[in-house]
Amino acid sequence: MASNVTLSLPSSAIQTSFLPRFNKKRPFNFVSNKVVSCRASNGNQNNEHSSSPNNRFDRRDVLLGLGSVYGASNLVSDPFALAAPIAAPDLDLCQKATVTSKTAGTIKVACCPPKSAKIIDFKPPKFSKMRYRPAAQLVDQEYLDKFTKAVELMKALPEDDPRSFMQQADVHCAYCNGAYDQVGFTDLELQIHFSWLFFPFHRLYLYFWERILGKLIDDPDFAIPFWNWDTPSGYALPAIYNDPKSTLYDEKRNVNHLPPVLIDLDYAGVDEEISKRDLIKSNLSLMYRQVVTYKTPSLFLGAAYRAGDAPAPGMGSIENVPHTPVHRWVGDPRQTYNEDMGNFYSAARDPVFFAHHANVDRMWPIWKSLPGKKRRDFTTTDWLDASFLFYDENANLVRAKVRDCLDTRPLGYEYQKVDLPWLKTKPAPRRPRKGKGQAKAAETSKTTVISNTFPIVLDKLVRIEVPRPKKSRTQLEKEDEEEVLVLQNIQLDRNVPVKFDVYINEEDGETPTEPADSEFAGSFTNLPRTQHSGGKKLDTKLTLPISELLEDLDAEGDDSIVVTLVPKLGKGQVSIGNIKIEYIRE
Ligand code: C2O
Repeated sequence: MASNVTLSLPSSAIQTSFLPRFNKKRPFNFVSNKVVSCRASNGNQNNEHSSSPNNRFDRRDVLLGLGSVYGASNLVSDPFALAAPIAAPDLDLCQKATVTSKTAGTIKVACCPPKSAKIIDFKPPKFSKMRYRPAAQLVDQEYLDKFTKAVELMKALPEDDPRSFMQQADVHCAYCNGAYDQVGFTDLELQIHFSWLFFPFHRLYLYFWERILGKLIDDPDFAIPFWNWDTPSGYALPAIYNDPKSTLYDEKRNVNHLPPVLIDLDYAGVDEEISKRDLIKSNLSLMYRQVVTYKTPSLFLGAAYRAGDAPAPGMGSIENVPHTPVHRWVGDPRQTYNEDMGNFYSAARDPVFFAHHANVDRMWPIWKSLPGKKRRDFTTTDWLDASFLFYDENANLVRAKVRDCLDTRPLGYEYQKVDLPWLKTKPAPRRPRKGKGQAKAAETSKTTVISNTFPIVLDKLVRIEVPRPKKSRTQLEKEDEEEVLVLQNIQLDRNVPVKFDVYINEEDGETPTEPADSEFAGSFTNLPRTQHSGGKKLDTKLTLPISELLEDLDAEGDDSIVVTLVPKLGKGQVSIGNIKIEYIRE
């Protein structure tokens, strides 16, 4: 297999044809004519969740928000820090997960792993040759034969073998769906999504899956493929997963999204027509935004999550988009819970899960390699010493830490080098600005009702004016502190699929902007998951970097911005506690 192939964009990728997709030019026909608008408070509103177990860190969050007070060292010498990495779960206390749906009721899912008396601390084994994970659309027959054979053997292992295909799929179910409590906190679910654990957990999970496959075919150099959904030639579900006779096939997939249909990375559950050219532009712009404009560890990797914290403090950029939309795009809407890929409890039962996550994993080193001093990992031991349990290729239970997986090379693998066309697709302002410092709110208020009632229930388009504590910052100040828009206390039921979009200074309520426009600041997504019966609502936040966006919109001198929120999926099921601008320095 070629290990260092550079692909260029095929000219056929730019042809115009029609594909199912959300129609970006369509008016907001899913919202009522009445547009509600609110004026955000200055952020001093009482936190209505002050009784949450997370409370003891609330003050710390505030300090992190005021980064200039504590400076760049706040991650290592925060005076409020407690040494509190999340500990690997206690397998003896694993419990069944519950899958619920508003319409279909509840099922119990047993996804606890076999127990083991002995736990080994992980040390990456010595290897003689770097393994190169190939792009799935580029593999040859010899590779495919090995891969399908390995998965066949994994599926043939006894049910109770921790390396068997279903046991491996259940690892994901258990870590995502409340099967474990945090060690020492019986009322706090352990959750590896929606936080800084997302990248390291999935990296290690894939690593052990790959090692098991390699062992089964007696090829220690075997490397799993990645679904190259960030480049046009990789947009379709990789063909190797679409052969009904293959061990890589899964029938629980959306039949409208099989090859050669191209993925919409902005997918929100509705297919409508869009030209291939516009789809590519949208997807590439979205990748640019999610990787290039997120310039600090917490923005990219996710929010801090320590022992004793409530789960789901906040997703990093890639976890949110395109990770979740890709899951939803593959999952089968004919299934009650959108199995397999459309629900966390079942996602890893589809072999394409591992190719999807390999591409997610590939974004981590790519992000770190881009210019910018702050594109680096966290340095705090609260992250580095967080740990997880996995069964390795010899069926030994292994405890691996975040610090064991910061770089893929010591783990013995790298990714095949392919083109990154999205590096050059910076979103552009939709229309030229009329001039600096104009009062956006004044223009907008003509068509909107002003209110300042939080929480906002997102059942229709909502427009809010948000004050900016600092304006006209110098280039140096901007490099030092990223201006971020924070949506706090986003609350929803965990089992509802959600997507809402966030626009900045989008003044025309009739026509939405799209990912290729600077005005489109990002989205919030939720993939349904199981939970303990009677589980609490998800309570999380969304942090969007806006320094670059405000430059592009020529709005840096403005006293405030106008934020427009548009529910796309799960309308009326989400509430937002507050919205404000902060400055983060990591
Ligand atoms: Cu653990 Cu893609 O989810």
